[in-house]
Parts: sequence; structure tokens; C-alpha cells
Amino acid sequence: MTGRRIYLDNAATSFPKPEVVLQAMVRYSTELGASPGRGSYAESRQSAALLTRCRERLCELFGGASPSHVVFTLNCTDALNLAIHGTVDWWNEHRAGEPVHIVTTAMDHNSVLRPCSALLGRGVEVTRVGADTDGVVDPAAVIDAIRPTTRLVATVHASNVTGTLQDVGAVGRACRERGVPLLVDAAQSLGHVPVDVEAMGIDLLAFPGHKGLLGPLGTGGLYIRPGLEDRIAPVRQGGTGSRSERDTQPTEMPDRFESGSHNTLGIAGLLAGVEWLLERSVEAVRAHEAGLIGTFLKHFPGEGAGYRLHGPDDPNRRVGVFAAHA
Ligand SMILES: Cc1ncc(COP(=O)(O)O)c(C=O)c1O
Repeated sequence: MTGRRIYLDNAATSFPKPEVVLQAMVRYSTELGASPGRGSYAESRQSAALLTRCRERLCELFGGASPSHVVFTLNCTDALNLAIHGTVDWWNEHRAGEPVHIVTTAMDHNSVLRPCSALLGRGVEVTRVGADTDGVVDPAAVIDAIRPTTRLVATVHASNVTGTLQDVGAVGRACRERGVPLLVDAAQSLGHVPVDVEAMGIDLLAFPGHKGLLGPLGTGGLYIRPGLEDRIAPVRQGGTGSRSERDTQPTEMPDRFESGSHNTLGIAGLLAGVEWLLERSVEAVRAHEAGLIGTFLKHFPGEGAGYRLHGPDDPNRRVGVFAAHA
């Protein structure tokens, strides 16, 4: 390849990853190479410690109360599917016959909208709250859509189309008052803007490891507020390296939701990415990105020759994801 590529597809996956991410993956591959929780030899135990460390550092990043409640997934889609299908499955198993209603928004990604649509055929009702022309969803409209039968509110934090940031905190406070779990899709926000699950009233935080957290593809997670795991059914069962004498799924976290061998190579990289971010602070990253967003908007204002840009023109109300139409 001649010349340096200018990569602008960070909303799909971040590139380049920090050098420390690559080094951590090489170190894991050459020095450990073992499956965590599957043996008592040193390398297997060290691999398990690496997973624990990654859960701890993730909790530091978003204010999680319990590292064991960080469930590793394949990507953000996988985490969202676990949260949505797991919630509905639990209600169907434990409260058979009771209606299930989900509130989501028109700004949500297909990884929320498609699982919700698939559930429509199974008696689940879904309300999709609309947005204004900047992609802003009014928190009051989300709150108004909540019914006595609402079992989950699912909202994106930052849009992958317009870059719009939603007022998740306002929705979260109302959900807490009503005892309805709030699922937030942080695919375009975690690592880019500060997220605090407690302050924002988030019960379920779905995130990719391979975008703002700077880990490799094939990583992601779902943080489950302690106590809520009992109201989410596992969507897959299998080996966990724990309670292997039983043929039923363990109930302990995170094994309840983590069947099968981990992407430990990827998680080694993810840990290094999260530590890289924590060292610099998400606030500093956000300040840097707000500056870049401002520069971009100066050169490409909302409307220009032959195009119209989607989303807010205030850097404080958006992330650096841009889309335009002719
Ligand atoms: C808002 C949003 N949610 C969910 C996803 C799905 O993430 P993943 O590719 O990690 O499954 C994306 C991916 O771009 C996204 O932008």
C-alpha cells in the first residue's frame, strides 16, 4: 500500500488500535494461550485473572457496582439480544400469560429494532417513540409511553446515523421511579462520552469492545445491575468451567450468561484499550472530540452546496458520527 490510509469508519470499528492493545494480544498469544476457568495450571488461572481485571476496569469506566455483572459478549448486538430476549423469556417463563410491552425509539439501531420486531410475533407489544428532525427523542415522550405492562425501556445513547446524544439520565430517573429496567445501547458513546450507570439510572448497559473502547472486533459486553440478573433468562446454555457436575446452567454471575470458551485473545486487547482510555480519561477524549466536531461543522455546516447534514450542530449535543444526504 502506498501512502497512509485515512480511516473514517470509526463508527463501525475503531482503527488504528493503540499499540498497547496489539502488544497485549501478542503477549496473551505467546505467553498464556490458555482458556480461563478451564484448568488449574498457572496460565489458565492467569487468563482468568485477565478476564476479572477487564471486568473491574470496565466497571471503573462506567461506574458499575459489581465486576461479576459485566458479561462478555461477541459484540454490542449480542449484548442487546441477550438483554431483550432474556427479559422477554424470563417474563414468559415466570409470569406466563402476563402481557409484555417494550418501549424503544425511532433512533435505535437494528440491533434493538430487529429483536423487538421478531418478538412482535410472540405476543410482545412494542412502542417506538419518534424523534425530531435533529434526531432528538423527547424524554417526556419515552416516559409517557411507559405502561403498567412495560417490562423494558430500550434506548440508544448516541445515534449511529445523526450522532445525536439522547438525554438518557432523564429517562433513567423516570424508569427508576416506575421500577422499569432501562437498557441503553452505548455502541457509539462508551469511550467517547462519560457514562455513569448509577447517575444515569441505567440498569442494562450494552456496549461493543471494538469501537470507542479500542479493543479488537469480536468483543463486547452487557453490564447488568446487581439483582436484575434474576429477571433475565440466559439465552444460551453450556460449559462454564464451574459446577460441571450439574447438567443445569449455573445461576452465579457471570457464568449464568457466559457459556462456552471466551474470546480471551480479544479480551486481552480490550483490557489494554480500556486501560489506555482510563489513563487519559474519557473526559479528555470527549474534550478532544468536541474540538474535532466543531472543526468539522465549521467546514461542513448543516447545509452546504448540494448536501444537508443530519443531526445537531452543537458539538455538546452530539458525537462525531456524520451522515448527509444530497
Ligand atoms: C448504535 C449502534 N448500536 C449497535 C450496534 C451494533 O454493534 P456491533 O457491531 O458491535 O454488534 C452499532 C454498530 O454500529 C451501532 O452503531
